[in-house]
Amino acid sequence: MRAVDIIAKKRDGGALSADEIAWFVRGYARGDVPDYQAAAFLMAVFIQGMSREETVNLTLAMARSGDVLDLSDIADYAVDKHSSGGVGDKTTLVVLPLVAACGVPVAKMSGRGLGFSGGTLDKLESFAGYNVQLSNEEFRRLARQNGIVLAGQSHDLAPADGKLYALRDVTATVPSLPLIASSIMSKKIAAGANGIVLDVKVGRGAFMTNLDDARALAQIMVDIGVDAGRDMIAVLSDMNQPLGCAVGNALEVAEAIEALNGGGPADLREHCLEVAGYMLRLYGRGRRWTDAAETRADLEACLHRGEALAKFRRMVEAQGGDAGMVDDPARLPAARLVEPFAAPQSGFIAQAAADKIGIASFELGAGREKKGDPVDLAVGLKIHVKVGDRVERGAPLATIYLRQ
Ligand code: URA
Repeated sequence: MRAVDIIAKKRDGGALSADEIAWFVRGYARGDVPDYQAAAFLMAVFIQGMSREETVNLTLAMARSGDVLDLSDIADYAVDKHSSGGVGDKTTLVVLPLVAACGVPVAKMSGRGLGFSGGTLDKLESFAGYNVQLSNEEFRRLARQNGIVLAGQSHDLAPADGKLYALRDVTATVPSLPLIASSIMSKKIAAGANGIVLDVKVGRGAFMTNLDDARALAQIMVDIGVDAGRDMIAVLSDMNQPLGCAVGNALEVAEAIEALNGGGPADLREHCLEVAGYMLRLYGRGRRWTDAAETRADLEACLHRGEALAKFRRMVEAQGGDAGMVDDPARLPAARLVEPFAAPQSGFIAQAAADKIGIASFELGAGREKKGDPVDLAVGLKIHVKVGDRVERGAPLATIYLRQ
């Protein structure tokens, strides 16, 4: 096979075979296919698209470019979740301990933030000492021992995606349905889950800004998962305004702890109960947690009895983090300057633009422009209002947490 023939076939709108896709991906991961040919391939896919079958084959080829985790010695059935990324999205920090507290082992690999979208690993590093880089053995040991582990993605997981994603970033080929779907799903499949809940964000603070695109992305990812033998559920959730109130690493951690204590903003709590409920439903495989109301009651009981918080604390401690910060979130990294922002006039909130709020938090120092940049854990914003709220002149709209 020759890379140039595969590129030409896609350029002319042809359908690539499983062998052609696997050959190209393998060759690129190994370094046999150079960046300039991979860039041309990506642009051909971007322009011509891919069929469902081609997208599945691309996903499987990327998933098989490195290790594929086998979690069967940890759980008879492994569940995972994935969020397509948003502003103030601290769902994983709440949902994982909640599900684990219901007796379902969870071993999750998460990512760092990029641009104005936050990342779970950065948030977790708000706990002094928290180790996100675990060896495979350590990852497995903690999952077996505590029923919960939350760490960074191993380098050997879908390495072809790592290379292709970096190339997409600089060749204007990121916003392509088959490329986004195969990128996300290759990592999920390689991470060993049997059942996956996808939380696809839609709105101005998300990758997909309208419902049709978000539904199409969710559908193609569900199709890929099903064709690869996984059980799939997709949730479409609003990202026109931030989830919860807090935006920024340590601020979000503190809000997640509030939610694990049974409090926190109502939208965050509802969303976490929904995502966790779907994870339990997948794990139950028609034998347990089939009734949404009973599942919710189980989850709420875990919150109220403090079991979800205890799981979270256990996880932080086991990964070397300062668990005292879970008991006393005031000890989390704190900004030196805290500025209130008051409503200049009375009225109703028409928008709490997630993209602009995300960019503001990024500008304050909470986000990174490129891989490896440091982030300021303490800075960010708290938005005290939701769309539709009535506010009076002078009432607090937001609080801004600044470096100095
Ligand atoms: N997240 C990913 O992992 N890949 C994409 O292409 C987009 C979002």
